Amino acid sequence: MNKSARQIKIEFGDFQTPPELANLVCQKLENLGVSPKTIIEPTCGTGAFIEASVSHFRKANKIIGIEVNNAYLAQIHKRISSFADHERIVLRQGNFFDFNWKGLLKDIEEPILVIGNFPWVTNSQQGAMGGVNLPEKLNFQNRNRFDAMTGKSNFDISEWMLIQVGNWFQKRRGILAMLCKTTVARKFLHHLHSNKAGVFRSAIYTIDAKKYFDASVEACLLFCEFRDHAHNYDYDVYEDLEAKKSQRVGHRNGMTIRDLDTFEKFSNLFGNSELKWRSGIKHDCSAVMELKKQDDVLINGLGEAVDIEPTYVYPLLKGSDIANNRIKSTNRFVIVPQKTVGEPINTIKHLAPKTWKYLEKHAEYLDNRKSKIYRDNPRFSIFGVGSYTFLPYKIAICGLYKSLDFRLVGEIGDKPVVFDDTVYFLSFDTEEQARKVLYTLCSRNVQDFFSSMIFWDEKRPIKTSVLNKLSLKKPQAAQALRLFERKSKKYLSTEGK
Ligand SMILES: C[S@@+](CC[C@H](N)C(=O)[O-])C[C@H]1O[C@@H](n2cnc3c(N)ncnc32)[C@H](O)[C@@H]1O
Repeated sequence: MNKSARQIKIEFGDFQTPPELANLVCQKLENLGVSPKTIIEPTCGTGAFIEASVSHFRKANKIIGIEVNNAYLAQIHKRISSFADHERIVLRQGNFFDFNWKGLLKDIEEPILVIGNFPWVTNSQQGAMGGVNLPEKLNFQNRNRFDAMTGKSNFDISEWMLIQVGNWFQKRRGILAMLCKTTVARKFLHHLHSNKAGVFRSAIYTIDAKKYFDASVEACLLFCEFRDHAHNYDYDVYEDLEAKKSQRVGHRNGMTIRDLDTFEKFSNLFGNSELKWRSGIKHDCSAVMELKKQDDVLINGLGEAVDIEPTYVYPLLKGSDIANNRIKSTNRFVIVPQKTVGEPINTIKHLAPKTWKYLEKHAEYLDNRKSKIYRDNPRFSIFGVGSYTFLPYKIAICGLYKSLDFRLVGEIGDKPVVFDDTVYFLSFDTEEQARKVLYTLCSRNVQDFFSSMIFWDEKRPIKTSVLNKLSLKKPQAAQALRLFERKSKKYLSTEGK
């Protein structure tokens, strides 16, 4: 396939660092006391970090640049030929994925500084355009090893590269200083913690990706100092390269904590929630399963009028409805053909024949759902359903929004409300039970406690893994509950007026 220049830029994650930023990074490293003997820029591009290293690290004996694109290397050669000390610089054409790093690392002097800015591209972006810039054993047909390593199938190439560099530092002394997405830096630091790597200190310095790369993404300088016997996995996050104040991040009780100081203040709230947060319904077939009421007629996503019994039709609130507090009414509905995951659905045939006919008529859409989970379950199956789905009161929050706005949702039209799978919720038999818990969830302490575990720059910052870590019986939560109970008589009696 002939690729356009734009596609090649995407495939190679090609965002050259402006010299101004490379110099600021090297200045920062100098301020941090970094003084390497050997410098490696593993994907050096047009050489911003090579040049900045030449002027900032005079004691380095060797500055090694590797890059896949020969034209870029030619540009650097041209520029450095006039440098007085250009013999310190070694440039080699090579592909990160099959380069003989072992050979290169064998006889270099420590401490080593690995510096640069790895390609900004994910395997899915590459997949979408037939890209092949991936480690050979981790191509799209055989990516299970990385999945096993990271627990996911979409990954940033830079994360994979960082993990390799982390391995170079096993039993070696040195520094890693790499520009990357902040989420990638965080995952890498988590990886070092899980693998008990020899980390002496590390930090994240936020950079303005819009200004330097015209990219709308949270990005940073990832800094990591490796020493064999050190195991310090807490790290500081700074707002920029000059910031003096930082936020401490660390790993506690199997969670990555965004704000350790606040977390420690409220750590007595930490536990296993006595009530389990669930996610909304997953059906992957909105064209058939979701219906919109227009002039009293239900219309499906294919634009067809749908005449079925109300038996399996439930009011639906989407994540955006929850976030925007549109919770009292809805014109959206969803067909919920099961009461529990995996429940046989043949009974629909007898209880609601028109619904059965409708599902059979549109079976092609449902049968074509890609996820394997549908193949291993009864036809027309959905997920995220259980007895909790059908309780009348819920406290709900949308995982995609950047605020902890919990909503108390009651029935709509005498039917329990169901949510899409961007929503997390607790279910209750009575409004009073729900109100009590809502009061606790909205208390300042609990909100600060949750927030200390939430990385607000993530696509889905609010997760059940965080929500389920509030123990409602722990002292501070219980105190909020007691406070509620004292006030509740007045609160509930004014509510109904
Ligand atoms: C984000 S740019 C950064 C370049 C340079 N490090 C800098 O800071 O300006 C990524 C660079 O990685 C190079 N690259 C992409 N895939 C590579 C690979 N498999 N092996 C070596 N270099 C690669 C690209 O050509 C590009 O120059």
